[in-house]
Amino acid sequence: MACFFRRKIAAKLAKTLQQSEDVFVPALTAAPVLKKHQSADFRMSPETLRINGILPSSGDLQLQTENLAAQLKPDSVVEEISVRQGWIYFKLNRSLLAEKLLEPFGKGENDNFGLNSEFFETLKRGTILVEFSSPNIAKKFHAGHLRSTIIGNFIANLKQSLGNNVIRMNYLGDWGMQFGLLGAGFSRFGCTEKLKENPLQHLFEVYVQVNKEAEHSEDIKLAARDFFRQLEQHENQAMSLWQQFREITVKEYQHVYKRLGIHFDVFSGESFHQAQTQEVVRELQSRGLLKTSEKGTGVVDLSPNGDMSNICTVLRSDGTTLYITRDIAAAISRKEKYCFDDMIYVTDKSQENHFNQLFQILRTMGNSWAERCRHVSFGLVQGMKTRTGEVVFLEDVLDEARARMLHNMNQSNTTKELDNPDDTAEKVGISALIVQDFKGPLQSDYKFDWDLMLQAQGDTGVFLQYTHARLCSLMQRNEGMEAAAFNPSCLCERTGVDILQQLLRYDEVLYQSDQDLQPKHLVSFLLKLSRFVASAHRELPVKGSPPDVAQARLRLFSAARSVLASGMRILGITPVQKM
Ligand code: ARG
Repeated sequence: MACFFRRKIAAKLAKTLQQSEDVFVPALTAAPVLKKHQSADFRMSPETLRINGILPSSGDLQLQTENLAAQLKPDSVVEEISVRQGWIYFKLNRSLLAEKLLEPFGKGENDNFGLNSEFFETLKRGTILVEFSSPNIAKKFHAGHLRSTIIGNFIANLKQSLGNNVIRMNYLGDWGMQFGLLGAGFSRFGCTEKLKENPLQHLFEVYVQVNKEAEHSEDIKLAARDFFRQLEQHENQAMSLWQQFREITVKEYQHVYKRLGIHFDVFSGESFHQAQTQEVVRELQSRGLLKTSEKGTGVVDLSPNGDMSNICTVLRSDGTTLYITRDIAAAISRKEKYCFDDMIYVTDKSQENHFNQLFQILRTMGNSWAERCRHVSFGLVQGMKTRTGEVVFLEDVLDEARARMLHNMNQSNTTKELDNPDDTAEKVGISALIVQDFKGPLQSDYKFDWDLMLQAQGDTGVFLQYTHARLCSLMQRNEGMEAAAFNPSCLCERTGVDILQQLLRYDEVLYQSDQDLQPKHLVSFLLKLSRFVASAHRELPVKGSPPDVAQARLRLFSAARSVLASGMRILGITPVQKM
């Protein structure tokens, strides 16, 4: 609906400047909702008009801006035009703003608000493969994997909401020397019973123990190499044990992903591309890209002058492949299988170099599509601990979040009677984890803090959930009322306009997140919307107001609830109805 107004303002500009309407649409953005100047709704920077050749590129810009603004005359849609700090501001007719913005909510819920905006027309849409989470079997699930899981899910949700075809892929660390060790370890310290009972825990124990023993036992090292060789040669017994490890791990993880409300379309893994790595090696060879280093390893020279000052190892001296070799093979086979337009990898920033090398090698091999592969990297989390100590499994973090949230809910006197308090605590606890993680730029490291993230008032996921639940209960108490005739002129109070102006920004916020894949824009948008809603709860009562006022306010609240829920879902949060 923001587009209706953008078009109207653009038409006005087009008429005055004798240009096509379309050139102005992208230059118009919703004005930030500020405490001080509440008047304007949209703004335009004349700088952008200069860049696009609409205003002369020389001369006094301030003067040009003021002249332009003076030529634009107010009308029934745009009530006021003003210039502030180099921007031209447009204030819309308040009643029309309420009418047009809330129109889509006339029949109650509207989950698509802002998502089919004209604003997105310039976006290229297509098939996007998002690879995320990707834990390693038997190894620790560290905070980085949790971050990759929720960030990747957010990106996939966002891309899907904006009309792309999204493939969600988990690329398990299910191949490599660690399986040699695990195999050798299992025959010594493994227990089939324990493996059935608590698979992740047991595999991890075996893995830790065998690593320790291997430090001073040549026997174990030898056995590990032998087991891995058996795997590489696909020998039955070794393969069936490996298969068992993989299957039970995936099953366990699926349970945890379900708790997080996350699904994958494909569980792939490093093991999938064994045969193709050999093809990759042959292709590198035939293109003359494979060199032998002094140490006898196979390398690709990535230095600009071809002087081997920057090399990437793709083959060990014994001919076995590495992580990057498997990634090259995986990328090529994914392109063939899924025909993606874009591929996004989500891992912590320690792998930046790995992905730069990967993309460069793919390009040198003649795969121009590698230009559209992107690595989204993120910073480290410090101090992720539970009451029992360091986190080893993802499930521990979720359990702790739920337990702490349940405790807080029991302490609070606003908590409602719930059918399933555990389930609510789980959902709210997860939103707390997500919002804490998404608040800052992804690249930054942050300190994990249970108390801060679980605060009920503050910039937290708990606050978002609380706001949503409060809106739901308001709707429930007044069911049926908002469907009556709607008088938009009842919504001219400051607090109501704050919410309307915030809703006006939603499509731009999504657009911004889509451009840089940072969830922080959406998080701060939703937090701000929630703060406006909190003021509106105080200042715009429904109960006791004249019917048309009550009904108009209710529609405003209903719109805020829909947008809040839609934004939360994109972040990967399941909104609760009651808490
Ligand atoms: N399993 C890897 C790790 O835990 C992450 C995999 C990232 N994806 C990739 N295609 N290399 O570090």
